[in-house]
Amino acid sequence: MDVAARRLRPVEADDLRERIDALGPWFHNINLNGVWTAPDHFLGDYPGAKFKRFAPHLPDDLRGKTVLDIGCNAGFYSIEMKRRGASRVLGIDSDERYLAQARLAAEVLGYEDIEFAKLDVYDVGAIGEKFDLVIFMGVLYHLRHPLLALDLIREHVARDLLLFQSMQRGSKFVLELEGDYDFSEDGIFFESSFPKLHFVEREYSHDWTNWWVPNRACTEAMLRSAGFSIENRIEEEVYLCRAAERPYAKFGPAAVYPAREDAR
Ligand SMILES: C[S@@+](CC[C@H](N)C(=O)[O-])C[C@H]1O[C@@H](n2cnc3c(N)ncnc32)[C@H](O)[C@@H]1O
Repeated sequence: MDVAARRLRPVEADDLRERIDALGPWFHNINLNGVWTAPDHFLGDYPGAKFKRFAPHLPDDLRGKTVLDIGCNAGFYSIEMKRRGASRVLGIDSDERYLAQARLAAEVLGYEDIEFAKLDVYDVGAIGEKFDLVIFMGVLYHLRHPLLALDLIREHVARDLLLFQSMQRGSKFVLELEGDYDFSEDGIFFESSFPKLHFVEREYSHDWTNWWVPNRACTEAMLRSAGFSIENRIEEEVYLCRAAERPYAKFGPAAVYPAREDAR
């Protein structure tokens, strides 16, 4: 349901094609009033086709809610959340060219009140605000320090819901684990469904920014370990989570930056 009022602008299609192409290549295929941004995407209509599969699991009406979209790229999810009426949407990305794409898409679709800012996920503490919904889709495996990013998100910006996705490789099964094991136990580490984070030293899928690829068990364990309870696995690699108590929090804060006063 489109609960936000759209203010469509009369943008000449020819001129728009030029503006889109000047900012290419695009990773998000977005329909800008009939002109698609990435019609030849290697994943098809991406992320639109994927979004259709899990969108029914998201709140339909976000009026009065705030949203932070980390690694927003060309703003597909930011725009979709604004369409659901979110009162404030902030999209951040470390890549200025993607942010320029996002600004163009939001402008053409009449959602100029979405804010886009150049900010690294490791700097979310600088925002100084918590959001009702944090979107962290497709970024984790691009990070050299993925668990640090999750810890920072939990510490600084996540108030309630987290929409999360990571590329996953390896076993799709989740090994049932005990709370603790004896030092002599090493059999579990040979199980493919034990939580495993695969390190890519060079490139994967022709992309040197793919650093760590978790299997399913590891994805879910990392989320829980950072203080997110998994409400629902709403698509193969997509999770809807809620901010929860971080395990072992009683022993002190997780590795967070900037350091918390009480950790000094
Ligand atoms: C695979 S795209 C995912 C885009 C979008 N979230 C989605 O799911 O379709 C990864 C995005 O994360 C951004 N990114 C990568 N490293 C980042 C970092 N350290 N901080 C913020 N954004 C980052 C990239 O610039 C890119 O836009």
